[in-house]
Amino acid sequence: MVRWLPLAGIGVLVGWCSLRAEEPDVKKLPPARTAAVDFVRDVKPLLEARCAKCHAIDKPKGKFSLKTRDDLLKSGDTGPNVVAGDSAKSRLIHNVGGLVEDMLMPPKGQGEPLNRDEIALLRAWIDQGAKWPADVVLRYVDKQAKHWAFVPPVRPPLPAVKDAAWPRTPIDHFILARLEKEGLKPSPEADRITLIRRLYLDLIGLPPTPREVDEFLADQSPKAYDKVVERLLASPHYGERWGRHWLDAARYADSDGYEKDMSRQIYFYRDWVVSAFNRDLPYDRFIIEQIAGDLLAERGAGKGDCPLEDRGTVPFSGESLT
Ligand code: HEC
Repeated sequence: MVRWLPLAGIGVLVGWCSLRAEEPDVKKLPPARTAAVDFVRDVKPLLEARCAKCHAIDKPKGKFSLKTRDDLLKSGDTGPNVVAGDSAKSRLIHNVGGLVEDMLMPPKGQGEPLNRDEIALLRAWIDQGAKWPADVVLRYVDKQAKHWAFVPPVRPPLPAVKDAAWPRTPIDHFILARLEKEGLKPSPEADRITLIRRLYLDLIGLPPTPREVDEFLADQSPKAYDKVVERLLASPHYGERWGRHWLDAARYADSDGYEKDMSRQIYFYRDWVVSAFNRDLPYDRFIIEQIAGDLLAERGAGKGDCPLEDRGTVPFSGESLT
């Protein structure tokens, strides 16, 4: 024990010196904001967005947990980090203000530093007693990772089927597997007239003309059906049929549909949606162009341009309305 005494002495000295060196100058920080602070409304969203990832998890960084008020006031690698009622003495504030070397929070390169308003808000919250309702528990939720829109689609394995000769496409496996599970058998294939009529209604929403039916019946090649599919996918009516689902969801209408039912002149948008389907516009572009519209740089932002050229090959059907 005696052997260690001199070293312990040095330790105390070093500890004291480094404390002195780190004495934070709180005057450099923005003062507390004066308005009353509501934890759930004002503070929780900030802590959740900027600190929870490292401090509202099971093994919080620096042993400093931000899950509950108790944690806030008591936890920490080197003792409590918050003195309720005194933000100037709270290390949490020193840290977010960057007053302590190497202790800026969030750490450098791992998140935007808090701005002056945010520091003023945290100071006011602590000065006003660091209130935090007992039933409110902070938890880190990785929204980005869990939201379905950010989960990449994966191709599921094909389900096993008893009648392996029936499926022609991978999708048929799913249909047959379910039929077999229910003890059902697939219906026999429909006659060709019925088939082409279904195909037309499904892809372009219009029935085939008698001549188109006759042509299909006359085509004996094994690719006859596929050829009709390709032709209909390339038809401008394809966009009219399938764009309708989007236009319905967007509540598109050619007239007000209420009281006097006056006409509205917004068919440019309708034609653009139809054309987007016909041009196979990727979904992200489809969304971006509808949200940003003529603010997009390539559209000539601020020049009042309208993306008319996007109506592409769709016949301009708007005149009849005006
Ligand atoms: C990317 C991870 C990360 C984020 C985000 C983060 N911290 Fe930290 N925090 C750390 C690490 C790592 C330490 C331990 C640093 C050390 O001891 O050198 C720490 C330590 C602390 C400490 C000191 C703990 C102690 O007792 O020594 C406080 C206080 C603190 N953080 C507050 C915050 C606040 C407030 C926020 C949000 C504004 C925040 N942190 C955001 C990683 C993070």
